[in-house]
Amino acid sequence: MPATTYSEAIFVNRTSALLVATVLGAGLTLSACSSSSDSGSGDGSSGSAEASGAGKIGVILPDTKSSVRWESKDRPALEAAFKEAGVEYTIQNAEGSADTMTTIADGMIADGVTVLAIVNLDSDSGAAIQQKAASQGVKTIDYDRLTLGGSADVYISFDNTVVGELQGQGLVDCLGGRPAANVVFLNGSPTDNNATLFSSGAHSVIDGTPGITIVGEQAVPDWDNDEAVTIFEQMYTAADGRIDGVYAANDGLAGSVISILEKNQRAGQVPVTGQDATVEGLQNILAGTQCMSVYKSATEEAGALAEAAIALANGQEPETNNTSRDDQGGRDVPSVLLTPKSITKENMNVVFDDGGQSKEEVCAGQFAAMCTEAGV
Ligand code: BGC
Repeated sequence: MPATTYSEAIFVNRTSALLVATVLGAGLTLSACSSSSDSGSGDGSSGSAEASGAGKIGVILPDTKSSVRWESKDRPALEAAFKEAGVEYTIQNAEGSADTMTTIADGMIADGVTVLAIVNLDSDSGAAIQQKAASQGVKTIDYDRLTLGGSADVYISFDNTVVGELQGQGLVDCLGGRPAANVVFLNGSPTDNNATLFSSGAHSVIDGTPGITIVGEQAVPDWDNDEAVTIFEQMYTAADGRIDGVYAANDGLAGSVISILEKNQRAGQVPVTGQDATVEGLQNILAGTQCMSVYKSATEEAGALAEAAIALANGQEPETNNTSRDDQGGRDVPSVLLTPKSITKENMNVVFDDGGQSKEEVCAGQFAAMCTEAGV
């Protein structure tokens, strides 16, 4: 499997990097990693062999609201990966504003980053940032979201079509072969290429399933959870409440859907999909109000980003296992696409065993008994 091969490659690279660092370690003083959590950014540096060539790596996360993953999972995983590799880094968050992301990128470029990784807020602003970076000799990486019409040197993500297929299959399974079921789609942001891939992956499974009728489909601008509540309530009313299953693109949107189902005393009767294996998503699965989520290891994705960034900074081609089609730019972008996992009540331990969430946090309070019952 390509993902396994890639992980092995990372392992080999890390091992050799460690060996080099150990051999040189005697003559080098490792400077301590420092981070300033108050400003929301962290810097780390060390004297390892790799660090001397890698320069400084900048990462810009998209927001704090479209998913809790960016600050609660990606930032710590990225910090850990950069620290382990011994490279200097800075991580900032654009707080949902493309203008802010542009300003941060300008600042990072002025500050001398050699590699800039972004999770774009829309392809146009992302492409402009990448063009400016390239004109200053800065390499760029698309992290998680592909920038259409962009110029990233490499794209690091999960196989997002597979994410959608897992969601679609999850919903079909949760509907449990009902002879007839009305399903609605609540997609992610139209400006996020991932949302398009998730939706098309889910459609590829759901559309061909006998008995399922799609009775509504809407996208949620900026993945805004509050707006999703309003959008889904309107869909629910428009369908006269005759909804038997909901494709929700991530756990945040699933939470919005569940709040309306609760208001109508239907929570738990209508399967809802999700993604990100968030604490809230997993708790909803335990409570039976959400039927599944998709786990995408932040450690794996951040590790792949660090690996690619270091290669680029050292003037090497990053190792990839795939390409991703950018029709707008007319190119196939070299990619590392990792493997997502479908999560239900039955296999939730996968997330805990992998360190994706802490069991203590998910199984706290009222969820303790549900965890015991689910064998978690
Ligand atoms: C990511 C998802 C996330 C969503 C909202 C997508 O691009 O792949 O993991 O839930 O954005 O932030």
